Amino acid sequence: MTAVALGLPGVRPDAPPEHAPLPAGRPDVPGLVDRFGRVATDLRVSLTDRCNLRCTYCMPAEGLPTLPRDAVMTRQEIARLVGVATRELGVRQVRFTGGEPLLRADLVDVVRDVAALPDPPEISLTTNAVGLDHRAAALKDAGLDRVNISLDTLDPDTFARLARRPFLERTLAGIDAAAQVFDVVKINAVLVRGLNLDHASALLAWCLERGFELRFIEQMPLDADHAWDRSSMVTAAEVRAQLADRFELAPDQAPRDGAPAERFVVRPHGGGAALGRVGIIASVTEPFCADCRRTRLTAEGAVRSCLFAHTETDLLGPLRAGADGAELADLWRTAMWGKHAGHGMAEAGFVQPARTMSAIGG
Ligand code: 5AD
Ligand code: SF4
Repeated sequence: MTAVALGLPGVRPDAPPEHAPLPAGRPDVPGLVDRFGRVATDLRVSLTDRCNLRCTYCMPAEGLPTLPRDAVMTRQEIARLVGVATRELGVRQVRFTGGEPLLRADLVDVVRDVAALPDPPEISLTTNAVGLDHRAAALKDAGLDRVNISLDTLDPDTFARLARRPFLERTLAGIDAAAQVFDVVKINAVLVRGLNLDHASALLAWCLERGFELRFIEQMPLDADHAWDRSSMVTAAEVRAQLADRFELAPDQAPRDGAPAERFVVRPHGGGAALGRVGIIASVTEPFCADCRRTRLTAEGAVRSCLFAHTETDLLGPLRAGADGAELADLWRTAMWGKHAGHGMAEAGFVQPARTMSAIGG
């Protein structure tokens, strides 16, 4: 669905200022449209703010205070809100994230409930894979379509320094199990200077051998320590330069279609048959906000229009107070109508959101 299909002019955040934003007042159209003509069809749902790792780019060493149990959406509430999104708001894809979604004992049931909705969305999961070996098959049976697994290095010591937990073996066991039951396994990696930057090619070779699509994600200012610094962050250009020691990358000709990753066909250094693909998500240096199709629900059932939003719209309170689907859909549409044009990281006065990645959901 596009803004034009909804009868709105297709104004984009990158359009000249005289064209943006659309006139004041939210139009009465069914989808999650914003003032810049973008339409969100991809929903990220955080299932918990807890995690069993402490990745330096995400969490502080000592962890974060966790939400009280009754502040977090129940399995039934998740299905209700996802049902509103798919039935009334045009959402077609749902990705469960965290924190670490596997820390929910009822994860398989959460997936099953959403897969049982009328006209179910495509369902995927972002996970660190610790413990996935025990649940991959059950998740697949419940209706999970795809998994994205975070893995930043294959070196046990580096893993332990980056994630502050010595769990590389457990992550690899989870990845093995996922590869046996899912057709598509994607691996997400964040490169940190001085830690794993020079592991990039080894990680790519390992993924290519196994048929996994690796995506490098530029580190975003969503860490609890507020230690992010644009000048020390590893950029997409640096990732490409790093991979050039072993590989040749050619831009993939397939249309990007709103996907955050820019994809490249990978060949061995010096040429030869294609080995597979790699993606690079350049959220900081080559932002794709103009094409954003995402809407988010925090574990507390609040809508965030963007990772970098400073406001949230509570849906769980109204749901618990008896709001019906139409009322919830209306609140959600108003929240998205206020979505900002971009994350503003390049602007003077950029303020990092109070929540970390673990508390928003990647
Ligand atoms: N910047 C970029 N990616 C991050 N992730 C966690 N924190 C950050 C950050 N600050 C990644 C994780 C995971 C995905 C959900 O987000 O590695 O793969
Ligand atoms: Fe946990 Fe993911 Fe954050 Fe690492 S990046 S601490 S695995 S939520």
